[in-house]
Amino acid sequence: MPQDDWQGDLLRDLRNLTNDSGEPGPPGEQAGRPPTASAHAPSQANAPGPAAADTHLAPAPAPRPLPTPVTLELPLPDELVKGRPLSGDSAAKRTSRSLRRLVGSSASREVEEATRVAQALQQPLTTGRQIVVTSIRGGAGKTTVAALLGHTYAHYRQDPVLMLEADPALGTLPARLGVTKVRWTTSDVAQLIDPSMQLTDVVGYLIQLPDRGWLLPGSQGRVGNRLELDEYRTVMVALRRYFGVTVVDCDTLPSELSRTALSAAQARVLVTPATAEGITGTRSVLDWMASLSRSRMLERTVVVVSPSSPHMTLDATAAREHLQLDGVKVLMLPYDRHLATGGPIRTDLLGQVTREAVTELAAEVLTRAMSRQSNR
Ligand SMILES: Nc1ncnc2c1ncn2[C@@H]1O[C@H](COP(=O)(O)OP(=O)(O)OP(=O)(O)O)[C@@H](O)[C@H]1O
Ligand SMILES: [Mg+2]
Repeated sequence: MPQDDWQGDLLRDLRNLTNDSGEPGPPGEQAGRPPTASAHAPSQANAPGPAAADTHLAPAPAPRPLPTPVTLELPLPDELVKGRPLSGDSAAKRTSRSLRRLVGSSASREVEEATRVAQALQQPLTTGRQIVVTSIRGGAGKTTVAALLGHTYAHYRQDPVLMLEADPALGTLPARLGVTKVRWTTSDVAQLIDPSMQLTDVVGYLIQLPDRGWLLPGSQGRVGNRLELDEYRTVMVALRRYFGVTVVDCDTLPSELSRTALSAAQARVLVTPATAEGITGTRSVLDWMASLSRSRMLERTVVVVSPSSPHMTLDATAAREHLQLDGVKVLMLPYDRHLATGGPIRTDLLGQVTREAVTELAAEVLTRAMSRQSNR
């Protein structure tokens, strides 16, 4: 992996694409600002097949069966929800916050804190960092946290950010990101990816999101999809050189896939339901991680306690004490009405405390992913 200005090169690649192609023609169906895919690259939404691979393989590759998926429309959960999307904060809360801002003296402290967090989020990277989000239980809030992290990095960073779904069991990451059509999946890309591919070819298999975000879905929304361990490994190793940050919405523990993903990542997020059972289960995972010899995984681990109801009865201090072993960071995600509704996440509708918690979480995770032990 070259240590020089690899991110600058990638960005130049992407900018050139926009200039070369003349017209927008995005690789995915999402309307994001930057880059458009190479004319050779396939499209997530509508290209006929993986033509891009052919133009970049020299000498000609041995023929192998390549996936030829069809574009699949996903129903948006949004249509299932009555009324307008809810804001994370109630109207009363929004008003009282504006009043406090007007008369309070906390403004400069808030600016200082925001600057610190923004600097952490924008720290330069020498190699791509991969962050795995998982949990010991289903429904803990993994996909929500992965989508929030991906949004945050894509917003703050200048390098391309990938959100990858390693949850083949009808994952909801595309829906959370507002994506309505999927075509290529993580499993497909494992069979298509080739080291000689340019970023411009690779993004043809991805869905473009706002800011600098890209999505690789885990399935086409069908029961029975599988993502094999070696497919996951292939994709993660191959894609690391193209993306500054990759956030993986991973299968639930203790599957083999999630355990492998956890130990291979540069940083990991364990999402924990804010219940006694959730905290106890996550503590067991941390104990298991601590038992892995020489791994020092805990130093690069953040636990996110995620509430399933606005009336949390959990003692946050006791939960923190129970989970904070050997350098693990424990952060609380507030209950947010907008997140609770499901459907596409709109960051402008998140409650103020949620927004602050998410940026703090993203900064903490990235800093841990940058630590010396994780420079692998
Ligand atoms: N901070 C929050 N405030 C309110 N509701 C939340 C919050 N985080 C997640 N939720 C809700 O919790 C539910 C589960 O979230 P999510 O789908 O992210 O969990 P998951 O761990 O990915 O589930 P699965 O194991 O099925 O993949 C969703 O309905 C989501 O809307
Ligand atoms: Mg999920």
